[in-house]
Amino acid sequence: MKRIGMLTSGGDCQSLNATMRSVAKTLYGNLEEVEIYGFQEGYKGLIYNNYRIMKPSDFSGILTEGGTILGTSRQPFKLMRVPDANGLDKVEAMKENYRKLKLNGLVILGGNGSHKTANLLREEGLNVITLPKTIDNDLWGTDLTFGFHSAIEIATNAIDCIHTTAASHGRVFIVEIMGHKVGWLTLHAGIAGGADIILIPEIPYDIDSVAAAIKKRADQGKRFSILAVAEGAISKEDAKLSKKELKEKRSKRIYPSISYELGAQIQEKTGQEIRITVPGHMQRGGPPCPFDRVLSTRLGAAAAELIMKDDYGYMIGIKNDRTTRVPLEEVAGKLRYVEPDAPIIKEAKLVGITFGD
Ligand code: F6P
Repeated sequence: MKRIGMLTSGGDCQSLNATMRSVAKTLYGNLEEVEIYGFQEGYKGLIYNNYRIMKPSDFSGILTEGGTILGTSRQPFKLMRVPDANGLDKVEAMKENYRKLKLNGLVILGGNGSHKTANLLREEGLNVITLPKTIDNDLWGTDLTFGFHSAIEIATNAIDCIHTTAASHGRVFIVEIMGHKVGWLTLHAGIAGGADIILIPEIPYDIDSVAAAIKKRADQGKRFSILAVAEGAISKEDAKLSKKELKEKRSKRIYPSISYELGAQIQEKTGQEIRITVPGHMQRGGPPCPFDRVLSTRLGAAAAELIMKDDYGYMIGIKNDRTTRVPLEEVAGKLRYVEPDAPIIKEAKLVGITFGD
């Protein structure tokens, strides 16, 4: 009998269920005896031994369902070694529950922070396999994470909708797009949605260049401009600050996010009417797009294949259209950024998109 634990950790995204379904279908279909222990609400379930033994039917009909049937939570890595309110050592508790249930392995679907914890559990002797979940597409060791393409569709739809109203009224619109510290989602949705200006954290912007690009469009008779702005976008000036200085400056920010600050500056510099749209968590919701369903199916099957071989300690990623295993120690704690001189940036600039640099 193989006993496998499963959990989804961190911010949710589309295709978590599709990925779990693929792992489960492959295990149930290819092993004589397998039991899957579904831990509830991420690492919390493993810490407090809150699980249920899953049935094959639990994984039926969930390919197209958003969210996660196991629930999720954010359990910050930096607090993992800090005892909880009752003095419980979380890492020891996870190890103990894993051993008590006689698990052979643990499948963790998570993003950056979750990978740090997954690697810690590996170091502590647990058999771990992870799967790259996040709309941010910022995990090291894989070309793509599931959730990313579904989020591109939603963010692109948002820009498409803004286009018609921006054109009717002749306004400047800022669409703020998620992505945490990286610009993958903004870059792709911005290009797909025909944004005129794209601002991402990897290319700090100069506010005067941004204002000049808007004025140039107006001088050419274009009645509106659309800016796709990453939530992590940063000005050249702020990019020069130390982490501490930036934190201090941002703590004094009167605006709820970068888009509002930018909006006020653009209004002042161009005199144009500005509107701001923040699609927010919509970008993580709803059913996965077909591309993600295929990706999840492939990643999940490859993860199950390793489990069947008792080969642990990896994240399953995809590189050049091939599923691949990446040692967890290489993935943990490393972000994958957009390269400012990547071909996609060069090509976007060729068609006239401004990055404010
Ligand atoms: O990591 C996914 C993500 O949606 C980021 O793009 C965003 O910064 C963050 O999560 C929001 O987190 P929360 O759901 O905790 O507000």
